[in-house]
Amino acid sequence: MKTKTFSKSFKSNQLQMATPLLLLLILSSFRPAQSHPITSPKFQLPLSTYPHPTTLSVRDFGAIGDGRHYDTKAIQSAIDTCTCSSTSTSTPCRVTFPPGKYLTATIFLRSGVVLEVQDGATLLGGKRMEDYPREAWRWYVVVAENASDVGITGGGVVDGQGLGFVKRFDEKKNVMVSWNRTGACLGDECRPRLVGFLGCTNVRVWNVTLREPAYWCLHIVRCENTYIHDVSIYGNFNTPNNDGMDIEDSNNTVITRCHIDTGDDAICPKTYTSPLHNLTATDCWIRTKSSAIKLGSASSFDFKGLVFDRITIVESHRGLALQIRDGGNVSDITFSNINISTRYYDPSWWGRAEPIYVTTCPRHSNSKEGSISNLVFINITATSENGVFLSGSKHGLLSNLRFTNVNFTYRRWTNYADGFVDYRPGCQGLVHHSTAGIIMEHIEGLEVENVNMRWSDDRSRRWNNPLDFRPSTVNNISLYNFRSGLYRQ
Ligand SMILES: *[C@@H]1O[C@H](CO)[C@@H](O)[C@H](O)[C@H]1NC(C)=O
Ligand SMILES: *[C@@H]1O[C@H](CO)[C@@H](O)[C@H](O)[C@H]1NC(C)=O
Ligand SMILES: *[C@@H]1O[C@H](CO)[C@@H](O)[C@H](O)[C@H]1NC(C)=O
Ligand SMILES: *[C@@H]1O[C@H](CO)[C@@H](O)[C@H](O)[C@H]1NC(C)=O
Ligand SMILES: *[C@@H]1O[C@H](CO)[C@@H](O)[C@H](O)[C@H]1NC(C)=O
Ligand SMILES: *[C@@H]1O[C@H](CO)[C@@H](O)[C@H](O)[C@H]1NC(C)=O
Ligand SMILES: *[C@@H]1O[C@H](CO)[C@@H](O)[C@H](O)[C@H]1NC(C)=O
Ligand SMILES: *[C@@H]1O[C@H](CO)[C@@H](O)[C@H](O)[C@H]1NC(C)=O
Ligand SMILES: *[C@@H]1O[C@H](CO)[C@@H](O)[C@H](O)[C@H]1NC(C)=O
Ligand SMILES: *[C@@H]1O[C@H](CO)[C@@H](O)[C@H](O)[C@H]1NC(C)=O
Repeated sequence: MKTKTFSKSFKSNQLQMATPLLLLLILSSFRPAQSHPITSPKFQLPLSTYPHPTTLSVRDFGAIGDGRHYDTKAIQSAIDTCTCSSTSTSTPCRVTFPPGKYLTATIFLRSGVVLEVQDGATLLGGKRMEDYPREAWRWYVVVAENASDVGITGGGVVDGQGLGFVKRFDEKKNVMVSWNRTGACLGDECRPRLVGFLGCTNVRVWNVTLREPAYWCLHIVRCENTYIHDVSIYGNFNTPNNDGMDIEDSNNTVITRCHIDTGDDAICPKTYTSPLHNLTATDCWIRTKSSAIKLGSASSFDFKGLVFDRITIVESHRGLALQIRDGGNVSDITFSNINISTRYYDPSWWGRAEPIYVTTCPRHSNSKEGSISNLVFINITATSENGVFLSGSKHGLLSNLRFTNVNFTYRRWTNYADGFVDYRPGCQGLVHHSTAGIIMEHIEGLEVENVNMRWSDDRSRRWNNPLDFRPSTVNNISLYNFRSGLYRQ
């Protein structure tokens, strides 16, 4: 088994290479196993017991840590000194933040440097536009560009002061400040992200809390070998674009033991400029007003070899979602051992309480249509206010889908209107359609095995068919041990 081989290779190496970046080295030889996609790595590394060749405290570089004075210069000097004393993987260097509040403009992380934000320490992102670089794509509180062997840890907090970017609080959806007057970016999505790794290799983020991003929270872009574990993310439930982790155009990413409570998509793989391969996310707890797991909607290139295992999704707007809109093809995706509860929220948020949502359609009339194939859903329990939506399109088929050991309970507990299918963004938008257990269109090959649907007998609510499809667009469905029945509480 992958897990065993992995821990064995760790043990045999551990005496020779006692460095905190050891794990990154191991990770670089680790690839999530496609032939046994369900296994997940068990990393048990008491890193704090390893000696650190160099550790620099930001206090020694003049940081005050009172949360009022900017400590940017001191922090950046510590990092720049640290990177010089590090010869990358062999001699890593740590920059520590002792307890205190460190207000800062953008800080640039360099190769071979790990930030250690200690328990009781908070890195506070500035709220002024001049705290960030000129180019909007570099607006982060902490950013690493083209670096290797970099990370953040320490048990402390990185905080983007996102509430300072709310122009008007609204239970439905907050209205946000936008820095679009610069022309650097457009619309109302013009705010700084919290932490970014751009074009990096061997990235590790662990044992840290990321709080209140103004926009997206943890952004991994064009990276190779990223390991994120024991990370908590607390965004704002009413703030749009308050994503948890956006993994973009990156290969070989492992996420484990995460806790994400936020307004927008929680774990969100995307492709803009190149494919995304091999992402594994396990043992996570998620609550969001949008999708808990979402592939897309940026989807210009392929997604391949993704595994989501042992995930708990609570009171979210959508559970497991593929929102393919730009011509990228998706294949070999497994969702296993997942508990889901989805409910309706205000329709200004994409999502209609679907526990599972698999869609591909052209974003605009001239967009390409990607296909989706080889999807497995196994050992899933869902309680939801709406059914599953599986929707291919004319030139973007869904093929070879499998549902095994899945229990759906359908019940209404909010008063939001039902009776819509939601193609947003783009495509046909929000469309009136009766409510069903599984709605299907443009599918070739679907196996349903050991699937139970249980229905609330609340007769004031109208549920239509367990399965809703037209034979003209759906071909080769098989049902083994499929049950549908009422339940009484
Ligand atoms: C993804 O993982 C597979 C299986 O381990 C491996 O063969 C492939 O090279 C990996 N892809 C990339 C882009 O690293
Ligand atoms: C990072 O590398 C890319 C590709 O080589 C390059 O275009 C970009 O300018 C680099 N960025 C920085 C900050 O060095
Ligand atoms: C996380 O950081 C805290 C505070 O420094 C420390 O006590 C704890 O052992 C760390 N946990 C892990 C898993 O590294
Ligand atoms: C700038 O953002 C505001 C929202 O804060 C929005 O109303 C406005 O349309 C945007 N302007 C441009 C030019 O995008
Ligand atoms: C990821 O793997 C794909 C497929 O091999 C490749 O095209 C892409 O350039 C890789 N991306 C990175 C960031 O290495
Ligand atoms: C899902 O819920 C069932 C019982 O409701 C529980 O036995 C199982 O451990 C849960 N799984 C996860 C991944 O939380
Ligand atoms: C998706 O697959 C189709 C059909 O094989 C292909 O024409 C298209 O180029 C693929 N898309 C991408 C982004 O590679
Ligand atoms: C589904 O429900 C059946 C009957 O209550 C139970 O035996 C089975 O373990 C459940 N499966 C899952 C994946 O929750
Ligand atoms: C599904 O659940 C069964 C029963 O708990 C377990 O034996 C099996 O290994 C699980 N399958 C996967 C792919 O996790
Ligand atoms: C029907 O779909 C299954 C997968 O769901 C596939 O294995 C089988 O080959 C398909 N049969 C036909 C006749 O296309």
